[in-house]
Amino acid sequence: MDLAGKHIVLGLTGGIAGYKAAELTRALIKAGATVQVVMTDAATHFITPVTMQALSGKTVYTDQWDARIANNMAHIDLTRHADALIIAPCSADFIAKLAQGRCDDLLSTLCVARPATLPLLIAPAMNIEMWQNAATQRNVQQLVLDGVQVLGPDAGDQACGETGMGRMLEPMQLLDDVIAAFQPKVLLGKRVLITAGPTFEPIDPVRGITNLSSGKMGYALARAAREAGADVTLVSGPTALATPTGVQRINVHTAQQMFDIVLSHVSGQDVFIAVAAVADWRVVNASEQKLKKSAGSALPQLEFALNPDILATVAALPDKPYCVGFAAESEQLLKHGKAKRDRKGIPLLVGNIGHTTFGKDDNELVLFDANTEIHFPRAAKQQLARQLITEISERLLTHIY
Ligand code: CTP
Repeated sequence: MDLAGKHIVLGLTGGIAGYKAAELTRALIKAGATVQVVMTDAATHFITPVTMQALSGKTVYTDQWDARIANNMAHIDLTRHADALIIAPCSADFIAKLAQGRCDDLLSTLCVARPATLPLLIAPAMNIEMWQNAATQRNVQQLVLDGVQVLGPDAGDQACGETGMGRMLEPMQLLDDVIAAFQPKVLLGKRVLITAGPTFEPIDPVRGITNLSSGKMGYALARAAREAGADVTLVSGPTALATPTGVQRINVHTAQQMFDIVLSHVSGQDVFIAVAAVADWRVVNASEQKLKKSAGSALPQLEFALNPDILATVAALPDKPYCVGFAAESEQLLKHGKAKRDRKGIPLLVGNIGHTTFGKDDNELVLFDANTEIHFPRAAKQQLARQLITEISERLLTHIY
C-alpha cells in the first residue's frame, strides 16, 4: 500500500468541492494512511463533520477552543505526528490567509504552527474569476515561494455554471499527487523517455498482429519517474491504461511509428527505458481494404519485413541517453538476459522472470548490468518501478554504466 504508515491531516475549507474530500478520505485510507480531518466553519456548511468522522474513523475537529484534547492545544497536537497536511478543498479566502500567515481559526492556526519539516499541500477550488483574480494569483505565488505544494486546480465545468480554471482536482489525482509527494526526488531535473505497451501491425483496416503486453510495467515506470521529479515522455502502443499524472503521453500503433516518435524525441533525454513489447515484424503487403473470405478463395499470404530495433538504434547514438532495456523470455532468462544486454549495447537490462507477467499487477525482476545480477523479489509493479528508478538514478549519479 502506497501510503502505509503515513498519518495525514486533511483540512477542509468552504467550497462545493467538499464532497470530493469525502472520496479523497476514503482513497487515502485505502492506500494505507490514517486521516485526521479538520474543518473550518465554512466547510461544515458544505459537508458535515459527521460524514467526515464516519469516513475517517476519527473525531473531526472544527473549533480552536475544543476541550476534547487534554491540554487544549489542538492547534499544536494535531500535526505533531503527521507526515503531511493537505487542504482540500482550499478556498480563495484560505489561500489569502495562508499567504499572510494569519491564524484566526483551528485550521489556519494548525498551518502556521506546523513543524517546519511537515509538507503542506493545497488543492485550490473556486470560481474561475476568483482563481484568476490578481490577489489570488499573488497569494498563490507567495505560497509557492513559501514551499507550499499547490495541486491543480483543473479546468472544466464549475458548480456555478461557468467554465474554466478553478475546479478542484479529482480525488484519485490528488491521491497520486500525495503519494508522489512522499517519493524521494532522485531524478529531479532529468528527462526520461519511455516506451510502453504492445505495438499493432495492421493486416488490413480491421485486423492486425499484436501481443499480450498490457503496458502496466511501462506506465508504472513513467509514474515512478515522474514521482521522482523527472520530466517524462511516454510513447505508448495501444493500451487501456490512464496516463499517469504529469506525464506527457504520445500514442502510436506500429513499431515504425514508435521508432519515429522515439527518434524525434530522444535528443536531450537523460534516460531511455524501452519497456514496449515491440513487434519484430510488420506485414508489408497489408491490404487497404478488408480481406474477404469468399468461398473457395485462396488463404491470405502475408509477407513480413523486419521492424527497426528502437532500443539498439538509440543505444548506438553518439549522444545517447542512459539506456535501459527489458526482456521477456520464456526460458533461460539468465543466459538470454546477459546476451541481450550485450547485443543491444546497453548498460542495464531488466529481465522479467517468466513470460506470464503480461497483464498482471505484480512481477519479479532481475537486473543485469556490467558486473552484477540484482534480483527484485515478487512485488507490485508500481513498487518494482520505484526500486528500478532508484537503481537508475544511482547509476546516473555515479556514472557506473
Ligand atoms: N525493442 C525495441 N525495438 C524492437 C524490439 C525490441 O526497442 N524492434 C526493445 C524492447 O522494448 C525491449 C528490448 O528491446 O526493451 C528487448 O525486446 P525483446 O522483444 O525481448 O527482444 P528482441 O530484441 O525482440 O529479441 P527476441 O525477440 O529475439 O528475444
